[in-house]
Amino acid sequence: MAEQIVVLEQVETGIHRLLVNRPQALNALNAATLDALEQAIATVAADAASRVLLVSGAGDKAFVAGADIAEMQSLNTAHAAAFSRAGMRVMHALEALPVPVIALVNGYALGGGCELALACDWIIASERAVFGQPEVNLGIPPGFGGTQRLLRRVGRARAMGLITTGRQVRAEEALAIGLVTQVVPVAALMDTGLAIARTIAAKGPLAVKLAKQAVRHGADLDLARACAYETAQFAQAFASADQKEGMRAFLEKRPARFSGA
Ligand code: CAA
Repeated sequence: MAEQIVVLEQVETGIHRLLVNRPQALNALNAATLDALEQAIATVAADAASRVLLVSGAGDKAFVAGADIAEMQSLNTAHAAAFSRAGMRVMHALEALPVPVIALVNGYALGGGCELALACDWIIASERAVFGQPEVNLGIPPGFGGTQRLLRRVGRARAMGLITTGRQVRAEEALAIGLVTQVVPVAALMDTGLAIARTIAAKGPLAVKLAKQAVRHGADLDLARACAYETAQFAQAFASADQKEGMRAFLEKRPARFSGA
């Protein structure tokens, strides 16, 4: 059987890992890979037992080295628009997942690879990670949301600087500018991601989902509307069994047993 270009596996109860698996092309995103990613993300979205998604790239060199340049080379304007939309669908779907999504970046995260990492809720990098939007070297701007998500993650001046020069940043600089939240040794990357995933999976699932929605939607609203949205999310939690169990467990001085309902 041929190797799958995208592998979705359940690592532990409630914890999935999505692996881009084209190491011979440094996991570059071609149209088939984007389709496979979209399907895998839909599978996670439909799984009510899912709690956290970890996203990584196969091999020891790259997370994802970008959109597939060989495939893009001969695109015309209409095909380029369709390719961009396919990439955008993947990034939006990843971002819209109800569960936290963590990118584990082991190496190059360039162009579409940086965009894939940026569509995750946060990024943990290995010491070997390299980030950048080098599209201008190829005569194109970013096309999978990089201009917008990098802007929102690191601010306008830094995003503009990185995008217009194509300069690549190593893990420590990525940490300093807030592009990644943590840098760990290569060998510790998966275990670090798993430890965080286990912590999240032990919390009230509905609370995590409501909090993620508030952070995600609130980021694009003005403060008053964003806080009103938070009030609605907060109030909604009080209709849940998890809120009753969580508070009762605290008062009874025992661990909570959350059901997600
Ligand atoms: N698309 C297609 N193939 C790619 C690729 C990409 N983005 N990146 C790497 N590969 C392929 C190489 O062509 C090479 O294939 P062959 O073995 O068949 O020659 C293989 O992966 C290994 O790559 P290198 O030999 O280049 O490895 P290296 O260690 O010398 O360099 C690298 C690594 C610096 C990441 C280099 O591969 C590189 O610069 N890649 C391209 C990065 C890039 O420009 N990304 C942006 C793409 S455009 C984009 O993403 C647009 C968008 O926003 C939608």
